[in-house]
Amino acid sequence: DQISDQSQRARIGIVGGSGLYRLFDDAPDAVELDILTPYGPTSSPVTIGTMAGKRVAFLTRHGRDHSVAPHLINYRANVWALASLGVRAVLSSSAVGSISSEHAPGALIVPDQIIDRTHGRRDTFFDEGEVQHLPFAEPFDPALRAIANSTLEAIGETFAPTATAVIIQGPRFSSRAEAEWFRSAGGHIVNMTLYPEVALAAELGMGALNLSFATDSDIDEGDGAEGEGLSADLVFVRLREAQPRIIAAIESIIAALPDDYEPPRPIAADAVARVLARPVSS
Ligand code: ADE
Repeated sequence: DQISDQSQRARIGIVGGSGLYRLFDDAPDAVELDILTPYGPTSSPVTIGTMAGKRVAFLTRHGRDHSVAPHLINYRANVWALASLGVRAVLSSSAVGSISSEHAPGALIVPDQIIDRTHGRRDTFFDEGEVQHLPFAEPFDPALRAIANSTLEAIGETFAPTATAVIIQGPRFSSRAEAEWFRSAGGHIVNMTLYPEVALAAELGMGALNLSFATDSDIDEGDGAEGEGLSADLVFVRLREAQPRIIAAIESIIAALPDDYEPPRPIAADAVARVLARPVSS
């Protein structure tokens, strides 16, 4: 075990999406860890700091300078690193495009379902040595989602309590026909990174929760918004504006997490322990 010092353990993990690159950096009680994993390097060092009075481990999915493209993120290393610190609940943030009028740009969203349209990503820890089949009917922990939704309600946020997220390969956005097809298939929002992160977290016995922020719309709602044109610049401008709101929402949700939270255990604990005992490489 690389990490036996209790100050370097945390029961809550945050994976920062686009726009969320640093947390805790100036905090006197924060520690920064370069964690070796069996899968190579994580997207960024992990910082452990205090949020809402709790120890929380943070890493940023695209790297601190946003240099890692969605399809090239080392999802297994990131998720393994958090699990190795004792993390039980992973809260991730994401920027998403809207393909539903109930999930309009500017809203926070707590997705409950996903449709995976990615390809070629390493999406399991159980493909070498040992095979396990993850039950995945509920990709996110319903108990964590309930806490998030009642917290967002209590702080007066504008939010959608459910959504089906379609995960595209990226890094390009969707064609209009693809967006229409995703909508007709039951999708509400489009994103590039929720999969395989959420499945990998579940494989290692961590409960998953995602807080998405809709930056743009992939569908012409007839309100002239499409004339603005969807671009990465637009996504980042909207994210920057929303940053204080997103961080305040994350902090409130973490404050509301019970200290005795226990995640669902879709994979047997001994199988998870064998993955966490795999030899690391630099
Ligand atoms: N992230 C932010 N906006 C997006 C969109 N329209 N499609 C996919 N991922 C996104």
